[in-house]
Amino acid sequence: MSQLIDGKQISKQIKDELKEEVQRLGALGRTACLAVVQVGNDPASSVYVNNKKKACEYIGIGSRSYELPEETTEDELVSLVEELNRDDEVNGILVQLPLPAHIDEDRIIRTISPDKDVDGFHPVSVGRLWIGEKGFLSCTPAGIIQLLKRSGIDICGKECVVIGRSNIVGKPMAALLLRENGTVTVAHSRTENLQDVTKRADILIVAIGKKKFITSEYVKEGAVVIDVGMHRDENNHLCGDVDFNDVEPHTSAITPVPGGVGPMTIAMLMNNCVETIRT
Ligand code: GUN
Repeated sequence: MSQLIDGKQISKQIKDELKEEVQRLGALGRTACLAVVQVGNDPASSVYVNNKKKACEYIGIGSRSYELPEETTEDELVSLVEELNRDDEVNGILVQLPLPAHIDEDRIIRTISPDKDVDGFHPVSVGRLWIGEKGFLSCTPAGIIQLLKRSGIDICGKECVVIGRSNIVGKPMAALLLRENGTVTVAHSRTENLQDVTKRADILIVAIGKKKFITSEYVKEGAVVIDVGMHRDENNHLCGDVDFNDVEPHTSAITPVPGGVGPMTIAMLMNNCVETIRT
């Protein structure tokens, strides 16, 4: 029987732990506030932003919301971020991505102070991660490490294969698995003989962005499979990058979609917000 890794339950557990910690820190006069910035009104982004604000409320973190029109210029957005950098009442700044095409995302990410970079996207945060210094961790990969640890899955010495090399998931995922003493391979769209590579994995992290791409032919018997994908299938149901029904019988543990990795991203964002008020 494969273990179903319940991201909803684990994220709830983390949020409840954070809620208690925030109460304790509040009694010492330390409070956190997250500024959430959205440009335009992409419906998917609006859902994510609302969920982030609700999570803040649940845990007891203040939140401030900046909803800017689609036509906002890059310079206007830079000015707002600089203002939030200077604002002592704001501990964390989150600019929801993607931004409209006329705005350079890299410039905006670099403008956020590394001390308030709760997404962990600033080059300083990325550098700290790779050299093993304390800093903000990218939320989705950090959430996956928590899923593994809290499900009793050992990473040390294991063959870990990450499919996908994005700055938000694949690359920081590789760094975090390495930090946990995994043996890490990063595969991607140009990888030759992908099945040979993925079949080596004790732990397979799939962030390939293609609906139900990973079938049982890609998976070693007894592997742990973590699915970062989020798509709609032919029946309009949510599904991942992994063909769950085909792969699940061959795994020792697997995440579902929805209810696997998804809920962990917000839990880890909340953890980064609380981190700003830990000493
Ligand atoms: N858009 C999709 N995921 C994320 C995320 O983790 N952070 C931000 N800022 N934008 C996103």
